[in-house]
Amino acid sequence: MRGWMVAGNWKMNNMVSEAVNLSKSVKEGTEGIKGGEVVLSPPFTALHAVYETIKGSHVTLAAQNMFYEEKGAYTGEVSAAMIKDIGCTYVIIGHSERRKYFGETDEWVNLKAKKSLAVGLKPIICVGETDDERGKGVTEFVVGIQVKKALNGIDNMGNIVIAYEPVWAIGTGKNATPAEAEDVHRFIRNILGDMYGDACKNVKILYGGSVTHQNISDLIEMEDIDGALVGGASLKSEEFVGIIRKVSEKR
Ligand code: 13P
Repeated sequence: MRGWMVAGNWKMNNMVSEAVNLSKSVKEGTEGIKGGEVVLSPPFTALHAVYETIKGSHVTLAAQNMFYEEKGAYTGEVSAAMIKDIGCTYVIIGHSERRKYFGETDEWVNLKAKKSLAVGLKPIICVGETDDERGKGVTEFVVGIQVKKALNGIDNMGNIVIAYEPVWAIGTGKNATPAEAEDVHRFIRNILGDMYGDACKNVKILYGGSVTHQNISDLIEMEDIDGALVGGASLKSEEFVGIIRKVSEKR
């Protein structure tokens, strides 16, 4: 049993007081929920406050990024050990916004994934094709390379989560249909199967891109979709709690 996961990626949103209020509402709104994981990913500035709000509860914490070096003269960067130290269980790696605006490469994603695992942080590795790539029919080619390069040299998949986030679906209101998403999720699971055999059976693959409490019901019916990485809809507690409830009911 893989169980489910719903993670809220707040991106560059929420001041500390807003972050505390939102995390409190999510915690209270999902109390008693079973069979899966609720994860919140605030900006760095709110990680400590959110950790204090959710600690000891069923909600866990993720950072949105990290640097792969251990320590030293890397102005503006935050290490995996620092993220673990502040109370995070997970770290999002390779989000398409980081690839697009900050030049993050597959090689960096791989280095970050390795470093996070080395300090006991679980990476949520994001992959996904652009509109143009889908139009050209190279979705599987692109996603396949991203997955293989991200996992290069990693021999234990046990603590890794993959998030399939088609770039054209992020923040556009144009989510992938359940069938479109499932096709890519199954493709990713097959790659993991080739690389890791049965050991990858428990790896969660999340869908991300314009997820709402309305469209999640059909997405989560798909066999290889184990939950969601939610952006915009995770900023409103009622909407986010609604998504979590639907996932937990169907899984
Ligand atoms: P939206 O849910 O706003 O489309 O964002 C998805 C995402 O990028 C989550 O990481």
